[in-house]
Amino acid sequence: MQNISRFISNNLFHHRDLSGYFEPVIQVFKPAWRSGFFRAQVKGIRVLSENALKITLKPEGKWPIHTAGQHISLTIEQHGRLVSRVFTIASGAKKLKETGLIDLVIRTHDKGSFTPYLGKLALNCWVNISNPIGEFIFDQQSNHTTFLAGGSGITPFIAMLDDLQANTQNHIHLLYYAKPNAHLMVEVLEKYLTRLPNFSFELLNRSEHGAFTKYVSVEHTDEFFVCGPEEMFFEAEEFCKSRQIPIRAEHFQAIKPTKSLNEAARFTVKLNHGDLEVSNQDSLLSEFQSQNKPVIYGCGMGICHQCQCLKKKGIVRDMRDGRLSDNSEELIQLCVTQAVTDLELEL
Ligand code: FES
Repeated sequence: MQNISRFISNNLFHHRDLSGYFEPVIQVFKPAWRSGFFRAQVKGIRVLSENALKITLKPEGKWPIHTAGQHISLTIEQHGRLVSRVFTIASGAKKLKETGLIDLVIRTHDKGSFTPYLGKLALNCWVNISNPIGEFIFDQQSNHTTFLAGGSGITPFIAMLDDLQANTQNHIHLLYYAKPNAHLMVEVLEKYLTRLPNFSFELLNRSEHGAFTKYVSVEHTDEFFVCGPEEMFFEAEEFCKSRQIPIRAEHFQAIKPTKSLNEAARFTVKLNHGDLEVSNQDSLLSEFQSQNKPVIYGCGMGICHQCQCLKKKGIVRDMRDGRLSDNSEELIQLCVTQAVTDLELEL
């Protein structure tokens, strides 16, 4: 039955399921209701520093309870366009069960295409969130654990510590790197010091303190967790490999266009079923059509959204205003979008 419904909706209504066709009607009663998304209401926005915000969300009741360390994709509407970014939840499952709330701690960028809008969200407005995702989870299998965080990579550790019982036997030492005076949520870490007798932390910065390796007690590390930029992950991976310490990691990857934007180039697009090679000189829709790749579309000019799909990775250019996306998840319209790097799409 589900397959029949999907067939009808794909072929007659250009939506992935029939409920998507009724989206505008349902949104009159349920703001921000979207097929395939959960809703969450903005319950608090707090400025933590010049470039960091804490956003508190109340997910709708049917949202599954997360495990500390997992992340979600947050989707907001910007000038009629849905834009998504992935953030780790900075609070534990215990808080969700007790209050119905989750926190996101977000680094903002003045010139970013997403985060500057977050501070302007109205209280009680609705946004969309995904299921909690990810396997960066602290299951307390080891007696002595080292956490290594870089910048906003502190957020999963805040959630993990939030969920730890005060009588935990696990000894945890956190090494937290950030630019001088830019460490986030230090007052929360200080509260954990009082609540968790076996927890300790150090605030470090690269220019003054150098590499993390001299702060790790190898004999007191049964397991190593790292969350931060890619270089930090590579260093930690090498360190653990040579000492045979199990490592779990979550890292952010910065991708930049590899070719000058005016230079003709070809890029690989990874799709649900196989890969395609496309030129950066035409829209993705035209490229797919010229290679007989079946794609749902309508107006061909960025109005009807029928060619919309999820970009999971890679950078694209919006042909209407030349705006470059960043590397994270985002809904794009194939008819007005060109590839700027290799891409991963969910059609
Ligand atoms: S086909 Fe209408 S927006 Fe792309």
